Amino acid sequence: MRRRSPAALALTCAALLASSLAGLDARPARGHEPTPPIAAAPAANRGPFSLVDHHGRAVTDEDFLGSYMLVYFGYTHCPDVCPIDLQVMTEAIDLMGEQGAGVQPVFITVDPGRDTVAVMADYVAAFHPRLIGLTGTPEQVAAAWRTYRVRRMKFFPLNPDDGGDQGHDAPAGGNPGYLVDHSAAFFLVGPDGGGLVQYAHGMPAEEIAADLRQVIAEAPR
Ligand code: NI
Repeated sequence: MRRRSPAALALTCAALLASSLAGLDARPARGHEPTPPIAAAPAANRGPFSLVDHHGRAVTDEDFLGSYMLVYFGYTHCPDVCPIDLQVMTEAIDLMGEQGAGVQPVFITVDPGRDTVAVMADYVAAFHPRLIGLTGTPEQVAAAWRTYRVRRMKFFPLNPDDGGDQGHDAPAGGNPGYLVDHSAAFFLVGPDGGGLVQYAHGMPAEEIAADLRQVIAEAPR
């Protein structure tokens, strides 16, 4: 596990303070559970996964060895938090300048039923030319969620016309308009595949970029 220098800790605390001072703005919207602001993942977490990228190619975590990876779990139908977080994530990487080229942004779906390869291709292109979208079979994607300890639950918004008590049940005949409650955080994975640090939803791109620079500067060469 990476040791954080006092300077890095001070930076982190400043970021946390700033985000807590931001109050309501720092809280995830409905349908996204808050995650601990900064938590180092266990060093043993190598983040294994076997998925399909937005070009339809089979990929595993081993394809990303050798570069840093910033991973976000979400879904393309997400009405609020996911688009904001993906924008923040890719902005942070761009703010790093040349150093950002060593960080691969990755978006893994929590909604494989709707997020097909074609849907993912359209979606990631709207955010960043280097953003890689990953989907797969329900089993493949569920394995990736377990690896990253991402929680996820499909739910159906209350419909005032149905009596208003069917919130978490699938309506008869199915309902394509479901939402997915999911963890909202960015996971930094090191070049050796080990989990390094987790950034919470609500952290500004500037703070994430600054911490990423620090992490890379401190990394053993
Ligand atoms: Ni979302």
